[in-house]
Amino acid sequence: MDNIVDETMTEQKHVSHLTDDEIKEEVKKTYSKIAKVSSCCGPSSRKDLALTFGYEIEGIPDSATESFAGCGNPVALASLKESEIVVDLGSGAGLDAFIAARKVGETGRVIGIDMTPDMLAKSRAAAERAGITNIEFREGDIEQLPVEDNSVDVIISNCVINLAPNKSKVFEEAFRVLRPGGRLAVSDIVLDKELPGHIRESIGNYTGCLGGAILEEDYLHLIEEAGFERIEVVDRAVFNLGVSAKISAYKPEAN
Ligand SMILES: C[S@@+](CC[C@H](N)C(=O)[O-])C[C@H]1O[C@@H](n2cnc3c(N)ncnc32)[C@H](O)[C@@H]1O
Repeated sequence: MDNIVDETMTEQKHVSHLTDDEIKEEVKKTYSKIAKVSSCCGPSSRKDLALTFGYEIEGIPDSATESFAGCGNPVALASLKESEIVVDLGSGAGLDAFIAARKVGETGRVIGIDMTPDMLAKSRAAAERAGITNIEFREGDIEQLPVEDNSVDVIISNCVINLAPNKSKVFEEAFRVLRPGGRLAVSDIVLDKELPGHIRESIGNYTGCLGGAILEEDYLHLIEEAGFERIEVVDRAVFNLGVSAKISAYKPEAN
């Protein structure tokens, strides 16, 4: 996410005039630019942000931190174990996926899903260069996951679901692909109170992970409606006009 709020509404595009597909194209354009950032010659603020969230980045490809765009550390919340199968919704440059791959080990597997080709190219190239074989980055939309039913132990996601126009669909898909007893661990931006209309209308605020955020109670309700239980807000911190929340939830065990 970007820590900048557009108060001016100088942006030409108003979110309410765009279709869901047009919003997703704007999101792709933004994250395509972030994928092209290189820490060789620019500021290291994204890496610093990752360190602030407590990421242990030693041995993780630099390219994953230089385009980091998260708002928390869901992989720390997920308590991953050896051999688990993990899906990262909106894997971006891959920081959470690389950390998860280290935690689940060679007998586990991590699947990062992203819709932005430049992010996928960056994360795939890093995995190949580093010789990490228990990781795969798939092109796809988190509202329609390219993953089989009941096949995953853990779903993680860092600052992505706020960007999805249809958040119910994301939670329904997460529920579908998790095995019974599987868990969800997300960091995301939610709201304490509704945003002023002009802030919500700015496409820059939407792609910057604020304008698409919804009230925390509505977010938790969507998770519950999808079928999850033991839903818990583990941590929350005010972030601009939003709240960065860490949320965990479980798919019920089969009877
Ligand atoms: C704010 S960035 C976060 C990236 C990564 N999780 C991190 O922490 O660095 C959002 C990412 O989610 C992806 N994304 C947004 N909406 C998506 C969707 N509907 N389906 C798949 N990927 C999506 C974007 O392409 C981008 O890479």
